[in-house]
Amino acid sequence: MRELVFATNNQHKTQEVRNLLLNEYSVLNLNDIGCTTDIPETADTFAGNATLKSRYVADHYQMDCFADDSGLEIEALNQEPGIFSARYSGVKDDLENLKLVLRKMEGQSNRKARFRTVISLIRGGEVFLFEGIVNGTIRETPTGEKGFGYDPIFEPEGYDHTFAEMSMEQKNQISHRALAMNKLITFLKERP
Ligand code: IMP
Repeated sequence: MRELVFATNNQHKTQEVRNLLLNEYSVLNLNDIGCTTDIPETADTFAGNATLKSRYVADHYQMDCFADDSGLEIEALNQEPGIFSARYSGVKDDLENLKLVLRKMEGQSNRKARFRTVISLIRGGEVFLFEGIVNGTIRETPTGEKGFGYDPIFEPEGYDHTFAEMSMEQKNQISHRALAMNKLITFLKERP
């Protein structure tokens, strides 16, 4: 069976994709291929950063690979935190980052935001990009304990609760990551 690397250290993400591609690909993650490098994410777009990761593996291991990069974009903040989502407050701390967003959004009537994921696949040396977007609004106060990151302040369009109030199954049906991943899986199945 063809091998495909998912440039992540997240075991949970790997297992999910592995299950979806059970009959088509043997999916390996960074740990499986012995890659311990902290791959630099120095680009200024999600697509750029995802491609830095997928290209690193393709170049150093001569294997087909895909990588994802995600973040929250808030219209009134000029699409910030964007690529800086994981360290918006200067530290990799979900609560500090969320508090900074709420401070910057104080008194702001335009609460429109979106989560975005871009997946970069390098196959046979060629790059393919897959995008997933979920639109929504930023709440004034956090609600819910599930999920991670900005989930407690993000209310997806068409719902009256935040991502942090949804079960993982529910979030996985509508999330930016799931949408991008579904596009990748469809592509891989249609063009094995
Ligand atoms: P990553 O590229 O998937 O690691 O996401 C980068 C950062 O974006 C995370 O550290 C979070 O701060 C934020 N983020 C991405 N996806 C989500 C989500 O589904 N919920 C909440 N925050 C997210």
